[in-house]
Amino acid sequence: MDARATLPAYSPQSIAPTSAAPTSAEAPVVALNGFTRRFGDVTVIEDLDLTIQPGEFVALLGRSGSGKTTLLRTLAGLDSAEGQDVQVPTARAVVFQDARLLPWKKVWRNVALGLRGGDIRNRAQDALREVGLGHRLDAWPLTLSGGEAQRVALARALVREPSLLLLDEPFAALDALTRLRMHDLVLNLWRAHRCAVLMVTHDVDEAVALADRILVLDGGRIAAEERITIPRGQRAELTQPLRQKLLGILGGTDAAIDERVIRFPQAAYPQASAQHAAPLQVAGA
Ligand SMILES: Nc1ncnc2c1ncn2[C@@H]1O[C@H](COP(=O)(O)OP(=O)(O)O)[C@@H](O)[C@H]1O
Ligand SMILES: [Mg+2]
Repeated sequence: MDARATLPAYSPQSIAPTSAAPTSAEAPVVALNGFTRRFGDVTVIEDLDLTIQPGEFVALLGRSGSGKTTLLRTLAGLDSAEGQDVQVPTARAVVFQDARLLPWKKVWRNVALGLRGGDIRNRAQDALREVGLGHRLDAWPLTLSGGEAQRVALARALVREPSLLLLDEPFAALDALTRLRMHDLVLNLWRAHRCAVLMVTHDVDEAVALADRILVLDGGRIAAEERITIPRGQRAELTQPLRQKLLGILGGTDAAIDERVIRFPQAAYPQASAQHAAPLQVAGA
């Protein structure tokens, strides 16, 4: 049905796979040099440099239409990077905002999609246990809640033991309480698997709560970068000033900050779709 429901098996020639399990702590898991992406006359990403270290948790913020999904799809091998200096690991997996489960396949088969070998049901079960769904192995996707479906999508990603986990607004469609639970889950999974994570989000508080480093994509480039060394769980003091600062860069208004609601201005790009125009994210609710 949706080709993107399966994980990319192919790696374009222009993308040179780095080692799936880097031996040197210094060797980045992602390295882009001067990456540019145009759609027709519109340059979405221009001359972008990005490196991500093994095990690093990076959040990517940016207004709608700034090119976040384009960048993520490039790293996933779902978009062309022909002739460009883009290095990503072979072992990588993506989770999108919608879980993209195949409704005619049971939950465990969705997790095992594309896996080979005799023990794939066991592997799927282990991954589902990790996300707290070991009891829903034989459930049909349509019987799951939105949060459960996203947990299945996380299991499907992790069963591949990725060294790079790409998350594109994975919790944006969930209610606030479920989203907070998913934050804990994703941190636990990240700690257990030690993969690098690049998470696109609209939610500044989510970025501050989860990431080692926050990047702001604007005008086709990394417009701002914040490294956070304060341990997670002790960041309450940091959240407010950092939110103000990042929203300033993103063009949020003071009023929006007071309401704890981030209103992103419309993208400068005329062809932004309805999905890109999704107006609000409640931060830190
Ligand atoms: N396949 C495509 N063809 C033409 N334009 C595209 C395509 N994919 C994305 N774009 C355009 O590129 C810009 C960035 O899109 P996207 O990466 O989805 O932004 P974001 O995820 O930050 O909201 C938008 O203007 C979008 O309309
Ligand atoms: Mg997007």
